[in-house]
Amino acid sequence: MRLINRITILPVFLTAVSAASILFKGGTIIAFNNQTQGLKVIRGGSVLVTNDRIAGVFNSAPPKTPPGTEIVDITGKIITPGFIDTHRHGWQTVFKTMASNTTLIEFFGRYSSFVAPFFWTPSDVYDSQLAGLYESLNAGVTSTLDHATNTWSKDAATSGLQASIDSGARVFWGFSFANLTDVITVEQLYPIFRELAKNPSLKASPTTIAIAYDGWGPNPNIAEINKIMALAQEFNVSAVTTHSLQGPWGFNNSPEDIHALNYLNISIPVIFSHASFLTPTGAELLRSTNQYISITPESEMHYGQTHPFSYGIQDQASLGVDTHITFSTDILTQARIWLQQTRYERYLGVLERGELPGSNPMSVEQAFLLATRHGGLALRRPDLGIIAEGAKADLVVWDGTSPALLGWVDPVAAVILHASVGDIEAVLVDGKWAKRGGKLVAKGWPQAGAKFLATAKRLQAVWRDLPLPVVPAEFNGNLVVDPLRVDVRRGPGDGYGEVYI
Ligand SMILES: *[C@@H]1O[C@H](CO)[C@@H](O)[C@H](O)[C@H]1NC(C)=O
Ligand SMILES: *[C@@H]1O[C@H](CO)[C@@H](O)[C@H](O)[C@H]1NC(C)=O
Ligand SMILES: *[C@@H]1O[C@H](CO)[C@@H](O)[C@H](O)[C@H]1NC(C)=O
Ligand SMILES: *[C@@H]1O[C@H](CO)[C@@H](O)[C@H](O)[C@H]1NC(C)=O
Ligand SMILES: *[C@@H]1O[C@H](CO)[C@@H](O)[C@H](O)[C@H]1NC(C)=O
Ligand SMILES: [Zn+2]
Repeated sequence: MRLINRITILPVFLTAVSAASILFKGGTIIAFNNQTQGLKVIRGGSVLVTNDRIAGVFNSAPPKTPPGTEIVDITGKIITPGFIDTHRHGWQTVFKTMASNTTLIEFFGRYSSFVAPFFWTPSDVYDSQLAGLYESLNAGVTSTLDHATNTWSKDAATSGLQASIDSGARVFWGFSFANLTDVITVEQLYPIFRELAKNPSLKASPTTIAIAYDGWGPNPNIAEINKIMALAQEFNVSAVTTHSLQGPWGFNNSPEDIHALNYLNISIPVIFSHASFLTPTGAELLRSTNQYISITPESEMHYGQTHPFSYGIQDQASLGVDTHITFSTDILTQARIWLQQTRYERYLGVLERGELPGSNPMSVEQAFLLATRHGGLALRRPDLGIIAEGAKADLVVWDGTSPALLGWVDPVAAVILHASVGDIEAVLVDGKWAKRGGKLVAKGWPQAGAKFLATAKRLQAVWRDLPLPVVPAEFNGNLVVDPLRVDVRRGPGDGYGEVYI
């Protein structure tokens, strides 16, 4: 009864009192052109935000603004949509810089949810997830698909979700269904998922519940999958995501595996992280079912998942970060690395034939779309990753007068090839300021930073003393060998040095 009353009075309340409008005026807008499905640069334009949405995009000043509109002059600045990160494990932030030369196999044995449950409290998960999201917001990442492996207990899972909600970021929080030896089983996770998915604070938050699952193939447990996907439908989760590698790595979880079980051609978005050894059949399935992969360029280079086939599936690709403890957390860097890596790969094809390139194979516009619009498409959220009337007001304002950007003419090139996180002056999520004047203004910061630091120091001390796992002779049936190490020092010794943790 009370609920019904509130629903009926809510719209009146919103229009009469709390409609909050902000007008960004005089800047260069990297807007989206629905006709061409490409970018549209507007110079000296303005963007009107009302509540959580973009109410209008104008070539100059708007004809009129709602009473009480806050005017923000962005003359000389660039305004873009927020970046979208479609793969990340946000809870691990405390390990930052401790794993600079780790391998993927070592990562599983040292920094993953196979080890953390024995040392972490739920409040550690909260502090670490929240600090990681503030790091993302500061970097202009407004949406994140989190493959949340911190589901080793009800309290650890609840803390991760609560931190996501409290951050103010738009988190597609992917509850991971995984068996963790001596800790928890998938069977025990069903009731926990149900309870979390009913968390009442989700209603007023841009954060939504998603599902992460890595048991699609080979050897799927069909009864288990049917149960998980029944939950996905019952709670209409915002996404389903999986780690897909194939090739020597195993971890297939391929489009073919999921399609064979009839769970690919569904209304819920299914996102394949890495998809390193995607087959031509898998690629065709992605296109015909309109599902996407998440290329995590830096992760795939750092660990060697690699991405030999991803260049040819960029029409169904978005970008992700993955383990932000080991490298940069921002999608801007991912877009830049990916752009140049793609160019390198395409040039190599030419040079290997003894020929020379006569044109450039990938543009900054394409990189920009991958980092923004394509994340929205991957999540089946055409209202994300674009500046257009009706889209969500997830926005980034860049200081066009910083030493890095001063003198720019092409705003897309300025962002993709010249800017850094330090040039991000303001960030809004759902029409609310998360960063302003170059500083985080998100609720709970900087107190959360101080609390995180104490938690990080404590857990880092534990990990410093954990012996490195023994390198196995084989992994998923393949030999594990040392790659050829480089030598940066003349004479004896190669200069590999220490890790300074
Ligand atoms: C964008 O264009 C498509 C057709 O290309 C149309 O279906 C859709 O309604 C348009 N969206 C908006 C917001 O105008
Ligand atoms: C979880 O464990 C059950 C029981 O051993 C097994 O059948 C199932 O395949 C496992 N699921 C995953 C995702 O590993
Ligand atoms: C499920 O959620 C999506 C948004 O994530 C929404 O568009 C759709 O209408 C919902 N479907 C149902 C049956 O509630
Ligand atoms: C997906 O479903 C649509 C109908 O909803 C159908 O037309 C299409 O052929 C299906 N695609 C695949 C690959 O099964
Ligand atoms: C990382 O470097 C340290 C030495 O600084 C070394 O002990 C360790 O084996 C290296 N780890 C890997 C996975 O190569
Ligand atoms: Zn991952």
